[in-house]
Amino acid sequence: MIKTCNHLTKHYGKPNGWSLDAYEREGGYKAARRVLTEMTREQVTDEAKKANIRGRGGAGFPMGVKWSFMPKQAPAGKPMYLAVNADESEPGTHKDRTIMEENPHSVVEGCIIACYGIGANKAWIYVRDELHLARERLWAAIKEAKQKGYLGANPFGKAYPIDIVVHTGGGTYICGEETAMLNSLEGKRGEPRLKPPFPAQAGAFGMPTTVNNLETIAIVPTAFEMGCDKFSQQSALHDLKDGGCRLYGVNGHVKKPQVIELAVGVTMRELIYDIGGGVTGDREILGVIPGGSSTPVLLPTETIHAPDEKSPLHRFHGVNVLDVPLGVDTMRIAGTMLGTCCVTVMAVGTCPVLAMENLMQFYRHESCGQCTPCREGSAWLKRVVTKILDGESSMEELNELHDIANSIMGNTICAFGEGTAMPAMAFLKKYRKDFEKYVRGEKTRKDARLTVT
Ligand SMILES: Cc1cc2nc3c(=O)[nH]c(=O)nc-3n(C[C@H](O)[C@H](O)[C@H](O)COP(=O)(O)O)c2cc1C
Ligand code: SF4
Repeated sequence: MIKTCNHLTKHYGKPNGWSLDAYEREGGYKAARRVLTEMTREQVTDEAKKANIRGRGGAGFPMGVKWSFMPKQAPAGKPMYLAVNADESEPGTHKDRTIMEENPHSVVEGCIIACYGIGANKAWIYVRDELHLARERLWAAIKEAKQKGYLGANPFGKAYPIDIVVHTGGGTYICGEETAMLNSLEGKRGEPRLKPPFPAQAGAFGMPTTVNNLETIAIVPTAFEMGCDKFSQQSALHDLKDGGCRLYGVNGHVKKPQVIELAVGVTMRELIYDIGGGVTGDREILGVIPGGSSTPVLLPTETIHAPDEKSPLHRFHGVNVLDVPLGVDTMRIAGTMLGTCCVTVMAVGTCPVLAMENLMQFYRHESCGQCTPCREGSAWLKRVVTKILDGESSMEELNELHDIANSIMGNTICAFGEGTAMPAMAFLKKYRKDFEKYVRGEKTRKDARLTVT
């Protein structure tokens, strides 16, 4: 069942909806005021856990648990930080941008609560440089909050200094990976670091740092204002600790592509047909990518395999993937990932081989090059798919593609490697016949297209 929410989106499209006046008219900054003046740091992290907010950046890690990883005390005389990830370069994903442009004060208020909860006095918001309006709106919101005394030395009269700085990055995909983002923030090359140490141990400038996605932080004031348990209960997957509401995206071959705020638990079918208006040209679905191009594609005919009868996930056993509530764990048992929760639909008529070439071109280009399996593997994947499309490949080479992808898995510094290999293997397995047609010369590149009407 579709449950729409408007916690973040109520300001969208309204004249000056991004201003402090508009935000406070709707009850903005009440949560931060209460948190800073009435709660201890421990109470904040305990309360945050009850919201069951699964990180909105892709991995779905529980936000409250992550906050509790921060040291109880800052290392003597040293700072601790919050780093907000607004790099948002995942193909098919543009939800964070809408928040920054239309509701920047939710980010500022979320930073205040999060900083207090994790013991930090400074937050960075790392924004992709191309997002000029987002950056301007964030800075304007920070300035307004400072003028009102919500930031600075004594926010809401509390002797707990909090400062926020917007930092722009050069616009590479890999700078969305949290440790690459921290390197970039420090003025170094945007290359991922080996973990451990994790950011909560040694993050920005070697100091304990919590990294959260921008939407994760922006929804925090709502959760604290409602009461975190009540916030969580809006979700159909509350019992699976996947709580609240979030921004869902639907794009690709749908009639009404959009970003919309819904209670967690909408199904892919509802998102595509009821929200997205159905498939372009009333075609059938060829495949659905659940949450950005790094998440493996699903066929509309697939069903969930959850045989463990003791697991709460068993209730989805045998259910078609389009009819399962979209959540972090439900997409995992579907054999894919929820990722950024922005669904991309491919209609029948799309060439999956060309789609894979397009994706592999992206990953080859965006690999930072530190790890040989990722650097060479992504280049090989692109090269061989191009050969297949150009009719210059063989069945042997097609068979090798899976091995190339598989050799990236688990052999890299960061999850970019898996984000390249897993979608590649899914395309190869699920659209094998299409690949074979090119190899056998039954199709040529002239037959291949990505857009359908
Ligand atoms: C290649 C790659 C790109 C990523 N890009 C982003 C991004 O643009 N935004 C984001 O929030 N997280 C991104 N992540 C995930 C981050 O590493 C990190 O898990 C996230 O920012 C943590 O925030 P969350 O727990 O609130 O989701 C990316 C991860 C990888 C491996
Ligand atoms: S997996 Fe790829 S992107 Fe990540 S560090 Fe290694 S080479 Fe760089």
